[in-house]
Amino acid sequence: MNRGFLIVGNKAVTKPFSLNDLAGSAGRMDILCRFVAQALFISHGIRKNVEVYLLLLGEPKPPKAIKIVGKEVKTMAPDERNIAGLIRKALKIECNKNWKRSTSGIYISKKNLKKLLDELTNRYKIVYLKETGKDIRNFVKQIDKDCLFILGDHLGLSEEQERIVKDYASEVISVSPISLQADQCVVIVHYELDRSTI
Ligand SMILES: C[S@@+](CC[C@H](N)C(=O)[O-])C[C@H]1O[C@@H](n2cnc3c(N)ncnc32)[C@H](O)[C@@H]1O
Repeated sequence: MNRGFLIVGNKAVTKPFSLNDLAGSAGRMDILCRFVAQALFISHGIRKNVEVYLLLLGEPKPPKAIKIVGKEVKTMAPDERNIAGLIRKALKIECNKNWKRSTSGIYISKKNLKKLLDELTNRYKIVYLKETGKDIRNFVKQIDKDCLFILGDHLGLSEEQERIVKDYASEVISVSPISLQADQCVVIVHYELDRSTI
């Protein structure tokens, strides 16, 4: 089954940025890069059944969405700097509401959270990952459709973002009693789904 992951980068900048300051002037782009790495990479390979969506809401031209398609990606390494370089390249493209290809498997468009979910809701069961949700171990037993998991960044989702997500999400799921970093949650989701669906 296919898996999708979407992270909301509330401060992630929407213009090309310095690779030397991902956590600072790039608006916590480091979080998004680690998220991509954990969503896509396995030992010596890429999960072909995964798509990753990054919603960039930082200055100067929010919103921008980046889509990374596992089965199309060719020139990506799992380190933050390499992934950041590919995101930076995508941000050099003048984009509109349609997806434009930047490099192999990487696309950019000008979509907000609602437009992105409008598009994805046809293909995926939408799942909101939140500390207070239901235990993932019960959820995985009943998966009957490809799932897209939505996570916040270091700030989490705002009330407005959470309201939008809950309009689309059929489930709110927790992966641990502890509040974790977004990329750590992705590892747990893969682990639980690998164990129950492969
Ligand atoms: C670093 S946490 C956000 C912390 C932020 N201060 C807050 O209160 O929302 C990043 C994201 O990971 C997800 N997350 C963190 N811990 C989780 C857990 N135990 N179960 C499910 N999702 C979790 C949530 O989507 C959260 O928005």
